[in-house]
Order: sequence, then C-alpha cells, then structure tokens
Amino acid sequence: MHYPYQIESYDAYKIAYQKSIKDPAAFWGDIAENFTWHKKWDEVLNWNFTEPKIEWFKGGKLNITENCLDRHLEKQADMPALIWEPNDPEEHHRIITYRKLHEKVCQFAHVLKNNGVKKGDRICIYMGMIPELAIAVLASARIGAVHSVVFGGFSAQSIADRLYDAQAEFVVTCDGAYRGAKDIPLKSVIDDALIGNRTVKKVIVCTRTRTPVSMIKGRDVWWEDEIKKVETMGLHDFPAEIMDAEDPLFILYTSGSTGKPKGVVHTCGGYMVYTNYTFVNVFQYKTGDIHFCTADIGWITGHSYIVYGPLSAGATTLIFEGVPTFPDASRFWDIVDKFKVNILYTAPTAIRSLMGFGLGPLQGKNLSSLKILGTVGEPINEEAWHWYSEHVGKNNCPVVDTWWQTETGGCLISNLAGITPAVPSWATLPMPGLEMLLVDENGKEVIAQGDETVSGNLCIKSPWPGILRTTYGDHERCRTNYFATYPNLYFTGDGALRDKNGFYRITGRVDDVLNVSGHRIGTAELENAINMHAGVVESAVVGYPHDVKGQGIYAFVIYQGSHGQDTHGTGELVRKDILQTITRIIGAIAKPDKIQFVTGLPKTRSGKIMRRILRKIAEGELDSVGDISTLLDPGVVEEIKNGRL
Ligand code: PRX
Repeated sequence: MHYPYQIESYDAYKIAYQKSIKDPAAFWGDIAENFTWHKKWDEVLNWNFTEPKIEWFKGGKLNITENCLDRHLEKQADMPALIWEPNDPEEHHRIITYRKLHEKVCQFAHVLKNNGVKKGDRICIYMGMIPELAIAVLASARIGAVHSVVFGGFSAQSIADRLYDAQAEFVVTCDGAYRGAKDIPLKSVIDDALIGNRTVKKVIVCTRTRTPVSMIKGRDVWWEDEIKKVETMGLHDFPAEIMDAEDPLFILYTSGSTGKPKGVVHTCGGYMVYTNYTFVNVFQYKTGDIHFCTADIGWITGHSYIVYGPLSAGATTLIFEGVPTFPDASRFWDIVDKFKVNILYTAPTAIRSLMGFGLGPLQGKNLSSLKILGTVGEPINEEAWHWYSEHVGKNNCPVVDTWWQTETGGCLISNLAGITPAVPSWATLPMPGLEMLLVDENGKEVIAQGDETVSGNLCIKSPWPGILRTTYGDHERCRTNYFATYPNLYFTGDGALRDKNGFYRITGRVDDVLNVSGHRIGTAELENAINMHAGVVESAVVGYPHDVKGQGIYAFVIYQGSHGQDTHGTGELVRKDILQTITRIIGAIAKPDKIQFVTGLPKTRSGKIMRRILRKIAEGELDSVGDISTLLDPGVVEEIKNGRL
C-alpha cells in the first residue's frame, strides 16, 4: 500500500507540523481522503474544551473494518494480515491472510447477529492473545457494536464493575488462556463476574485450553458451534454496518486518580485516521514489513498498534500469546528470528527484565531483519535504551520512544523512526497536529528563557483526531478529569521537561496514578481495595523507583484486626490476606511490593494524607521528608521511618 502522507525527511516533518497547526482541518481532511468512506464528512473539526465537545469528520459515514479488511482484498488478499505465535513454542503458529481474516470477521459478525447483537450494543471481550480476540474485536466493529476489551489479568470483581458501568449485554471469552507457565480460567472468572449481573444475555466461549467449564443453558454458547451454523449456511461476507465518524467504536477502562476506573470512549473516524497516521509515520511502515507489538490487546497499545493501526495500513501484524521469559528469556529473539520481524515495539519493563538475563539469550539469534525498535508505556532509562539499541538493534535500528495514553488513542510525542532525531530517554517531538505546552501548578504557561530546559505539567491546546470523546455514561467526569484542571486545555496528568530544541522528556505522572510495569494503577482505587479487607482501618499507597518495573507499589496500612498478627506484630498472614483481597477486587497486577503496618498516617489538620512524606520514606530519602510541622501528629513520621521496609 502507498501512504502519500508518510513523512520522509526531517524537513518534511517540519512542514507537516507547521501546516497542521496553521490549518488542522485542511491537514487532517487531506489525510482522511486516503480512507474508504461511504459519505464524506460535513465538517472536519468542531470543538470546544469547555464542555468538552470534540467532533472529527462528523457526518462522514464509514466502517473501520472496511478500511482494515475489505479495501486490501483487491491488491493483497493473500498477504498475511495476522501472524500468531502461541505460548508454547512447540505448538504450530498460524498465519491468516487478509482474505481469510475478512472471512473470519464476517462469519463472527454473523454469529454476533444471530445471538442478538445490534448496532450500539456493548460487548465485553475477555480473552487471551489468540487470533480470535482480534477477530471478535473486528466483528464487533463490523456490526457497529461497541467493544470493551478487558485484560485477562483483571479479577471477576473488576469485570463485574466494567460490565455494569458499560451496561454490557454480551460477553465473548475463552475457556481459558495460556500465559507463560500459567493457565488462566477465563470462563470461570466470567462466571463469577456474572453472579448478580442483570444485563448480560449471552456469553460466547471460544475453545483454547480445554479447561472444564460450566455452560449455562440459554446464556452460554460455544464459538465453534455458532461458527459451524454460519458455515453451513454458506455465509462468507457480512455487509458492514454504516457508522457515523462520531459513533462510538470502543470503550476501554483505565485507572485515574479517583476511585473507580473510567470508560474512555473512542469513536470510529478520528481514531481510525489517527492510529493509521501515527503507525505509518512513527514506525515508518513499508509494505511487507512484519510488525511485532508485544502488548496485550487488552490495553490501548494493542488496540491501536496490533489491530487498528496496522490493519488499516494493510500491514502484517504479529500476535504473541505468551510472555518474554517463557520457556526462557530468548523468546522474543526466537520470534524475531523465526518470522523475520522488522519492527519490534515493546515496553521498557520488558527490556529491563530481559537485560537482567544478560546477553546469553541473544546468542545465536539472527536479528538482522529488525529495522525499527520502539518503546511505550513508561519512561525508558538511558541504560535500557542503550542496551536495546546496541544488543537488539545492533546499533543499526532507530529507537522510537513513543509517549501517549489510553485517552489519546495513538502516539502524541515520539521521534519518527530514522527521520527525526532520537535522544535516549527523550520522547522528543510532538506529532503533527499536537500543540503541547507546559504549565506550572497555577496553570501559567512555562516559557523558556533563552536556551534553558524547562519543566512543568504537560497540557495540550487543541484536539487531534484520536482524543477521547467522553468517559462512558459520565461526561462530567471526562470534563473534570481532563479539561477542568487548567481551563481550555487537555491535561495529561504527566510532568515533562522541554529543551531548547522543543524536545520533550516525560518525567512521569504528577497525579495519584502509579505506572507499574507500564500499567496504570490508581492509588485511590488500590486503597479502596485494601480498605475492603476486614481488619484494615486505613491505607495509603505510593510509588517508589523499581529497577525492573519502573515503579513499585508501597502500601502503608493501619490494621486493627486480630487475625493473623504474629508475636512480633509484623503480620505475615495479614499481609498475604491483604494481597489476596487486592487480587480479588482488582487483579494480581495491582499487588503492592511492600506493605508496612503503621499506627497512623501523616495527615494535615484538615485530614488530608501527606503523600509527599510517604513518597520520600518509600524512596528511602528519610532526611528529606520536608516540613512536618503542619501535621496533626508529627510524631507518626518518625515511627513510619523506623519501620520502613
Ligand atoms: O505516564 C505516561 C506513561 O503511561 C501513561 C499512560 O498510560 P496508559 O493509558 O496505560 O497507556 C500506556 C500506553 C500508551 C502516561 O500518562 N507513558 C506512556 N508512554 C510513555 C510514558 N511515559 C514516558 N514515556 C513514554 N514513552
């Protein structure tokens, strides 16, 4: 496929950037011309950040799956769309061409229809990383339903909350999932999540692990049986539902600084244009390249750069079911070697964890197919950047450090591979269309004097096509979370530095959100989960630097129950009970690395917990906790310092 909007030089980037800022509607309108529309839009952009109201390509009619599948059938029907590598390297991989993927998506769209799914219905998808996950996502889009993919590591309670919030009527799941040495009983987790649920009418179960499952009559059906019915009827095509550009495409739940995860809503037109544009430009995708994004489709990275971005660009995208260290730490390199991967996109955590195994796992692996390396999800430290560039890229592959968020749909700040400069641990330049600025805590723009590097809270002045439109069912929450901190600006929640070249370096979250192994965890959400444990009176959670995970989780807990306290009062059993509670309420990904029992928390006279002090203690900076004279009980600080783990 040819991408006329692919930026091929630094000068071309500068020209595109200028044009995009001067006239965003003309800029994005031109790019959108390269897609399949049933009807062109009435207006490219209509927006204000006060409500907020953001509309891109409104009145335009399309279906994203026609752009991801049908339009490639004429010229590249036999090209691989998906390559799937299973968890167990002994099991055979699968290659699915565009023709086959189109057929499978259409057939599953029939299955959805036969089971009562209509345009606008919400479908929760809780599956492992198998091709059927991508097929379910695309079939949902084909029929005009709204998918809400939930990562396989979330607990039944988390799923129940999401099902309720989205008022989902359908679930697509698997009997189980393989992840490294573990089998995850997905259907059984869904069964727990559905106890007391009043909205879900049908559960479609795909076979993967052959884990025994209980199928409830009238509610649960097997994927394979349903597909057989469609095949018997000889159905291979499914007319795509015609959607407005601003109809919702999906909901993806993410943690924020308040208690409950929010359902970030992305719509069909803008999201398609933006993921495609950033995929083609950041990774400098060339037809035939094999793109391997190691994220899970349960996160935004998987949505945008395993499914929609690559497929809309007619790319070959690799789905890997397993984990980087199973059966050993050479798994990524084996996959690169086996499929001659050209683009590898992964997380700093994965790189740091693989660095820990030394160079042995890389030996004998042919990585010469690699052209471009990427990272996402958290700041990458220089050591990991250099290791990645030198030992994986053999100093021959540009590394792109892509900064973005669930809410942004696609990359916002990143170098373009081999086109714009790369600086280790700097995300560098904004994408065309992005007007970034730094503000101080009063919302005043931070302007550099001369060549100085400045720091501030990262905000954005105007919308890009991939920006979230709302938080599902609660638009006011969207406004207060993102558009109210600083009037007329989108606030990212991140802090950043900007140097004299206009390059950005992301320093991390400035709100109460942790980033653990590239996963967002809200401290309030985690504290709520800990506080649900019967003996817990109160808790406070902060992050601290962790060599592999980027951030570790440190919990300070006031415990008054009697159960599990040992003679020293350290409560190993209580600690385990609390971890168990968190696993039940959120999922194992949110388990703290450290739990310290305390008798009090540092609070101001108005009752606010001074997290700054706890953060310093967790970081081990015991002498720099700062002024504690305004605390209700300053004595508690000494006690907490003494008990530090
Ligand atoms: O803090 C930033 C960090 O991850 C947050 C977004 O998390 P999530 O919505 O889960 O999306 C992750 C994948 C896009 C951001 O607010 N983050 C993401 N990418 C980077 C990053 N921090 C530094 N450098 C990055 N490249």
